[in-house]
Amino acid sequence: MKETLEKIKLQSVKELESVQSQKELEELRIKYLGKKGELTQVLRGMGGLSPEERPVIGQLANEIRDYINEKIEETAYCLKRKDLEIRLGKEFIDVTMPSKRKALGNKHPLTKVQDEINQIFIGMGFTIVEGPEIEKAYYNFDALNHSKYHPARDMQDTFYFTEEILLRTQTSPMQVRTMELQKPPIRVLVPGKVYRRDEIDATHSPMFHQNEGLVVDKGITMANLKGTLDVFAKKLYGEDTKTRFRPHHFPFTEPSAEMDCTCSACKGAGCRVCKYEGWIEILGAGMVHPNVLRNCGIDPEIYSGFAFGMGLDRIALLKYDVEDLRLFFENDKRFLSQF
Ligand code: PHE
Repeated sequence: MKETLEKIKLQSVKELESVQSQKELEELRIKYLGKKGELTQVLRGMGGLSPEERPVIGQLANEIRDYINEKIEETAYCLKRKDLEIRLGKEFIDVTMPSKRKALGNKHPLTKVQDEINQIFIGMGFTIVEGPEIEKAYYNFDALNHSKYHPARDMQDTFYFTEEILLRTQTSPMQVRTMELQKPPIRVLVPGKVYRRDEIDATHSPMFHQNEGLVVDKGITMANLKGTLDVFAKKLYGEDTKTRFRPHHFPFTEPSAEMDCTCSACKGAGCRVCKYEGWIEILGAGMVHPNVLRNCGIDPEIYSGFAFGMGLDRIALLKYDVEDLRLFFENDKRFLSQF
């Protein structure tokens, strides 16, 4: 019986060495250690042994069973390793393959035009500053020389929080805030959102964008205003652009004007874009009113200045030949991705 056991041991080791798969291994386990396995068979026959032999053979049989078990585990581990190596060999990542493209966003058309305007004024020595959209009536109206009864102050025209706090209707309050903080020479451009009680349609929105400009120094004249804004128009719409100034009224500038540019689409000949006028109005401007300077503690006998305000949205509409202002605010990617 001892010889049979040794034989089983040697044979099992030999067979285990040539095992190729988990399935073959399982078959071998059943062959030797299963209920009807060879080793089990031998143990069953122990009844016929003498009482002296029985423990000796029993111990040997147990040792061999443990030994075979250990070998099976070892083989199972080796097989797993081999499988893994084969898989790793097959499954490789090609790092040179082009990746899935992530759609990159682009700048909003209004931001693009704003960037361009900023660059033009920075080039002329202006500093870009921003101000609060929630504003005091004092800065939006009083300090800007609006009388208590000016129609623009109407509750129906403007968004009020209280009688004294409102959403600014223009960027002009930043003229006052700037002059309060800074003594001349002053050269600032103030881009920002403004609000008015307008029904939304193709050319109106209760929220839109303006750019305020303010220059204050000794000896600033209307010629500086015209020269600066003419250069601006040429840089924005092309060197062949012409400008014209029409008299106008604003409470906080005197004299006041509106500036038109020759239409960038037809160069002044007249077309659909300019409604066959050849000219397009792009901003309001004027010499800072002495009352406004005084309200800010600047002596109008020593200093003078000019200011202007222009709507960004309209400039962008014209520049990109977009017909409906609402498209800028609806955030439809099909529209926005065209810029
Ligand atoms: N704030 C004026 C408007 O909204 C524009 C303007 C600004 C006019 C500065 C003159 C000077 O219509």
